[in-house]
Amino acid sequence: MKRFISNASFILLATLILSSCSYSEPQKCRPSGRIRGKKAPPGQCNQENDSDCCEEGKMYTTYECSPPMSSHTKAYLTLNSFEKGGDGGGPSECDNQYHSDDTPVVALSTGWFDHKRRCLHNITISGNGRSVVAMVVDQCDSRKGCDADHDYQPPCPNNIVDASMAVWKALGVPKNEWGGFDITWSDA
Ligand SMILES: *[C@@H]1O[C@H](CO)[C@@H](O)[C@H](O)[C@H]1NC(C)=O
Ligand SMILES: *[C@@H]1O[C@H](CO)[C@@H](O)[C@H](O)[C@H]1NC(C)=O
Repeated sequence: MKRFISNASFILLATLILSSCSYSEPQKCRPSGRIRGKKAPPGQCNQENDSDCCEEGKMYTTYECSPPMSSHTKAYLTLNSFEKGGDGGGPSECDNQYHSDDTPVVALSTGWFDHKRRCLHNITISGNGRSVVAMVVDQCDSRKGCDADHDYQPPCPNNIVDASMAVWKALGVPKNEWGGFDITWSDA
């Protein structure tokens, strides 16, 4: 009977231990690039509800990834209208439809949107001591921006849950704080 592990199994074991270590280390989300802002042509960039417009010459960081997920992933809640003519631009990417501001729907930053994998799935958003379930209908594009397709708005940061008015109401956030709020979220 062999009383020691062979070289081959030792290497295998070492590889397993090393790879499990590197898996438990939080993966970092690094920028994928930068784009130079262009000023919107007249009549473009709907600034309703405090939407940002790109500034000429300003550099904007882009991301393909979002911060790693946990059971309570930290994110920044922003306000968006998914209605026709609202500041969300075209219909939602997941279902090619518009959504009433009275339904709890969200767009997620590119990494969390995960190539449409969360489309029409529900997430639980917690903040202000309350929680609300909302459906993912769109992407908040962290990869691109400052062009006609994105209504001359900057690329989305990588940690955004961009939510309809219904979500803000359900969390009971005071109106003067609508627009930017720290929350956590998880898959429902
Ligand atoms: C956005 O702005 C419009 C016009 O100012 C307003 O009627 C609407 O309620 C706002 N939507 C949200 C989601 O705050
Ligand atoms: C998400 O929630 C909505 C509204 O409650 C529901 O109609 C829908 O079936 C849910 N989607 C999934 C994928 O569970």
